[in-house]
This record gives sequence, C-alpha cells and structure tokens, in this order.
Amino acid sequence: MKNVLEAPFLVEFAKTAANMYRLGWDERNGGNISYLLKEEEVKEFLDVNHVIRKLPLAGVNSAAFDISPLIGKYFLVTGTGKYFKNVLDDPETNLGIIRIAKDKTIDLLWGYKDGGRTTSEFPAHMMSHIARLKVDPNNRVVMHCHPTNLLAMTYVHELDEAKFSHTLWEMSTECIVVFPEGVGVLPWMLCGTDEIGIATAEKMASFRIVLWSLHGVYAAGKNLDETFGLIETVEKAATIYNIIGQRKVVNTISEDAMKQLVDLFKIRDVVRWDFFRNK
Ligand code: 13P
Ligand code: ZN
Repeated sequence: MKNVLEAPFLVEFAKTAANMYRLGWDERNGGNISYLLKEEEVKEFLDVNHVIRKLPLAGVNSAAFDISPLIGKYFLVTGTGKYFKNVLDDPETNLGIIRIAKDKTIDLLWGYKDGGRTTSEFPAHMMSHIARLKVDPNNRVVMHCHPTNLLAMTYVHELDEAKFSHTLWEMSTECIVVFPEGVGVLPWMLCGTDEIGIATAEKMASFRIVLWSLHGVYAAGKNLDETFGLIETVEKAATIYNIIGQRKVVNTISEDAMKQLVDLFKIRDVVRWDFFRNK
C-alpha cells in the first residue's frame, strides 16, 4: 500500500490550505474544505475495509439532514477546531479521510489523529455537494473561508444578489467571465447548523459561490484550483471595491463592455442577464 501522505490529492489539499492561510482567508480555525475522492484513488493508499473510528453525523450539534445521496462516498475533510496554518506540517492530525456509512454515520479511515472529527460545517458541506452534483456531476470540492475584503464588503454593501454581483463584475474585467452567474448572498445566519446548510445548498443550485454575510464564503468546483481561483477572483474584486471606498468613481466597466465580454467568451447561456440594469 502506498503512503497516503504522498497521495497527490492529499499533497494538493494541504498546499491549498496553506495558500488560503497565507492569503489571510483562514485565521485561527476559520474555514474548512471537503474534497470528494474516488474510491479507486483512496484504495491505492488505504484499506477501505478498515474503519478506525465511527464519527457522528454532526455540525456543532448532531445533524438530521438527509445524507443518503452521499452514502458510500469518500471525502478528505478538515477537522473541527483545526488551524489551516498547521495542515501542511501535520495532515494526519488536522485532516481526515472519511466515508459516509450506510447507517448515515461517518466511517473514519485515516486522520484526526488526536481524536478529532469532521468540521462543524459538515452539514453545509455535504448539502452543498449534493446540490452541486445535481448541476455538475464532476463537482468535487466545497470550500468555506473568511476572506477579509469580501467579509468587509458585506458590512457596507446592500445584500441584494443582483446589486452585489453587478458591483463585483464592475471591479475587474475578468469577473463576469469567471462568475457569469453572479454570487449568491445569504443574510447572517447561525453557522454550524442544518438550517444554514439547507439555505446554502438552495443557493448552490444556481451559484458556485455563496456569501455568508458578516461571516465568509462558500464555494464549489470541479477541483481545488478552480474553487480556490473562484474565491480569489471574487476576493480580489472586493479588495478593489474597498480600496475605492468613498472616493468618487469616474471610470467603470460599462454594461456594454460586459456584453462584449459575454460574447467574446461565449457565456450568453450562463450569464445572469437579470442582474444587468439594462436588460
Ligand atoms: P471548524 O473549525 O469547525 O471547521 O469551523 C470553522 C468555521 O469557519 C466555522 O464557520
Ligand atoms: Zn466560518
């Protein structure tokens, strides 16, 4: 059996967590990632018949959402209370490889070495996976983090999805190309609960990125790079918004320019036309 610490999925995951920490998106234990693994890739590194511990299906408290669409699926997941800062140096304590068991509990196959368990945001992660897999069967990653500028923006910008998305599109030319569907926006809600998981998953039916106002962001994608890049692009736009601050805007990306980008990148079918002011 090969050494799981050298598994490409684990190495890339740990490096991604380190980058997220470096960018200031994950202070202390802030943020969590779940990565859907293929059984074949797990079997190269672990005996999948050897369950080292059973874990409860839980957020902050026990969870009661329907996880049945994910029974038998394997995930690499950050542990609750764990610091992204420490993932690269000690993956086995800070991460776990799990499988959703038939009895709707969690089989721990590797990791959480100090007795830990899955992130308190497990319900929102799993419900987001279920929602995104319906839209894109190749979706494998859900990422939650606390990007500074995006978070700041939710304190001062109207929390209207169309207006928020439009403002972000105006902050950099690439924005409408990277997230033509805009961003989903949730009001402040209690984290670690089934309720915020349900609300996030509802948004994930039409957005790959959902803001948790005054808290952070959820994003989904086919792989770690794509998901990271989506958050990076939205956070960059929010940074520009904050740098502009109260200063008078004298130039902006017009809707005519946005329409040219939509045509050039052939994204007419996915862009949210209803988020335009002049439809
Ligand atoms: P966990 O440490 O349980 O992953 O929680 C971090 C977080 O960001 C909660 O929203
Ligand atoms: Zn959080």
